[in-house]
Amino acid sequence: MTLPTTARLVEVGPRDGLQNEPQFVPTATKIALIERLIDCGLECVEATAFVSPKWVPQMADAAEVLRGITYRPGICHPVLVPNEKGLEAALAAGAKEVAVFAAASEAFSQKNINCSIKESLERFRPVLARAKDAGIKVRGYVSCALGCPYQGEVQPIAVADLAWALFEMGCHEISLGDTIGTGTPEKTKALIDAVARRVPIKKLAGHFHDTYGMAIANIYAALQEGVNVFDASVGGLGGCPYAKGASGNVATEDVVWLLKGLGIDCGVDLDKLVDTAQWISMQLGREPASKVARALLAKRAA
Ligand code: HMG
Ligand code: MG
Repeated sequence: MTLPTTARLVEVGPRDGLQNEPQFVPTATKIALIERLIDCGLECVEATAFVSPKWVPQMADAAEVLRGITYRPGICHPVLVPNEKGLEAALAAGAKEVAVFAAASEAFSQKNINCSIKESLERFRPVLARAKDAGIKVRGYVSCALGCPYQGEVQPIAVADLAWALFEMGCHEISLGDTIGTGTPEKTKALIDAVARRVPIKKLAGHFHDTYGMAIANIYAALQEGVNVFDASVGGLGGCPYAKGASGNVATEDVVWLLKGLGIDCGVDLDKLVDTAQWISMQLGREPASKVARALLAKRAA
């Protein structure tokens, strides 16, 4: 087993992390969070989502957030777009990268974006074409890759088919989402094995939620399979409004700790990241959810 020597983290805290917060997080706080995350060395920080504010009120300030970020060379800020309307709004606000999101479960697709999987792909085709014309990259998400809150089991082959459809349409990277965190390492390996038969492994990313505490184990399993791009959320913030009970993404601090322990370089300053986890958690009136942040903060205080 040869592990990768480097890994790339996609920080999704400002979007996936905050989208489920019941109280509106001030726009200035969202922008400050993004700036702090960049200061930690994160080169890809998903900024927001151009979705319907009726569906996800927390993302209603998407344009203000995107316009408020100071652009720095080499740093990318993908934003979610569910349709052409979202793409046009994102482009108008200066987006340089977007992400479309589909689900490998029919039930989740209906609940999350109000259409079937097939309809979602039809919606995304013009989004991809328009993005190509505008010269911007599109990331693709496949939700419910390891289980669905409504239909239960999801077959790896269904994930592989959808991942291929998004890749073939022009998505530069496919992020496999364990939306409800029910995955386990062996299931993760079987999933990656199935998807990598259709989409090159170097084009895959892992997006693990930590609902059952398995996210770090799943990332280790994915690393063993050759995946080296992982989505994570500072302080373990988050959850999906259409996946009741799902907790946050794996905490970025926990992933950085794992990678450091394995000697895998990801370019992130762990001390600054813990400061940021503490800062955003304070803004939200709670303690950081991640074990690594708690342990390092307790050590500092001792
Ligand atoms: P719909 O109701 O079927 O859409 O929603 P519609 O086309 O009938 O439009 C309804 C209203 O929304 C209209 O406004 C549209 O203009 C407006 P009205 O005339 O009623 O005033 N609208 C929009 N407004 C702003 N931006 C837009 C937009 N589109 C339409 N882009 C729709 C369909 C897709 C819009 C809706 O279902 C939606 O916004 N869903 C987003 C749900 C969401 O954001 N979920 C969380 C992100 S996914 C996730 O977290 C999973 C992930 O992390 C990976 C993982 O963990 O697995 C990515
Ligand atoms: Mg997610």
